[in-house]
Amino acid sequence: MPIALENIAYIYAPGTAYAATALEGVNLTVPDGAFVGIMGKTGCGKSTLIRLIAGLLTPTEGRVLIDGCDINDKTYDRSILRRTVGVVFQHPEHQLFETTVERDVAFGLKHLKHTAEEKKQAVRDALAAVGFDYDEVKDRSPLSFSGGEKRRIAIAGVLAVKPRILILDEPIAGLDPLGREAFLALLKKLNGQGTTILMISHNADAIAEHADTVLVLEQGRVLRWGSAKTVLQERDFLQDRGIGIGQVSRIAALLEKRGIPLEQGTVRYDDLLRQLTAYGRGRRG
Ligand SMILES: Nc1ncnc2c1ncn2[C@@H]1O[C@H](COP(=O)(O)OP(=O)(O)OP(=O)(O)O)[C@@H](O)[C@H]1O
Ligand SMILES: [Mg+2]
Repeated sequence: MPIALENIAYIYAPGTAYAATALEGVNLTVPDGAFVGIMGKTGCGKSTLIRLIAGLLTPTEGRVLIDGCDINDKTYDRSILRRTVGVVFQHPEHQLFETTVERDVAFGLKHLKHTAEEKKQAVRDALAAVGFDYDEVKDRSPLSFSGGEKRRIAIAGVLAVKPRILILDEPIAGLDPLGREAFLALLKKLNGQGTTILMISHNADAIAEHADTVLVLEQGRVLRWGSAKTVLQERDFLQDRGIGIGQVSRIAALLEKRGIPLEQGTVRYDDLLRQLTAYGRGRRG
């Protein structure tokens, strides 16, 4: 069942001189298994939106439904939410605080009714998913790892719970290119296994290559919501609003200026390459 946001508004510090409307009139339904890229300028409400879906904030107006249930209803069992939705915040590496990797990754399992053996297996699997060998790292202090490695350990802690919905706030910011690719490949794999992914990113390339659906927010409102191709092909529209477009879109725009025709919605490398190859063959033949 999907995530549904019904007429959501969120105001920080309502009724005070500091009142700030972060979201307004947001309506959307995220289908199961989607990979959603969330874009928008700084301060447009992206983090607020995911905090609402994670149940960390209560909407000022409207409802957040997960699997058809209003997560802010008095009768809603919050333990379901904790098991269903995993959130990786910006700089998750700052949230490591246990003495060993094993304890840190197992932290979220505390509330679940796992046996010791199941717990160990969940930690082992989660560490393997982010590229670590359980036996090698389990007794080390999380603080003894590099920044990128710490981030992977923190993410393992979220994955250990096996959330069906995984929400990530700028997960690839500050990673080196290899780390970024490996991390996006992991998300792609999880998505292929059925996990719904919502990823906030200022990296338009990552969104173009991996997301199937894109949400663009502007000043707390939905500016665009639709398939990645449809949303990202509006190059001028996005750029005029200060929203980055990916390299492929840039190259496509240059090629079109030179009179090389491309299909609408060419936003991914493989798509661009396929068309250029066909174009080259056509000119030779
Ligand atoms: N704790 C808070 N108290 C008051 N206002 C806040 C608070 N947190 C966010 N805001 C305001 O709400 C709006 C949306 O903030 P939010 O953090 O959701 O934006 P964002 O899109 O995640 O930005 P960024 O790309 O910089 O992370 C901003 O105008 C911000 O100033
Ligand atoms: Mg944010």
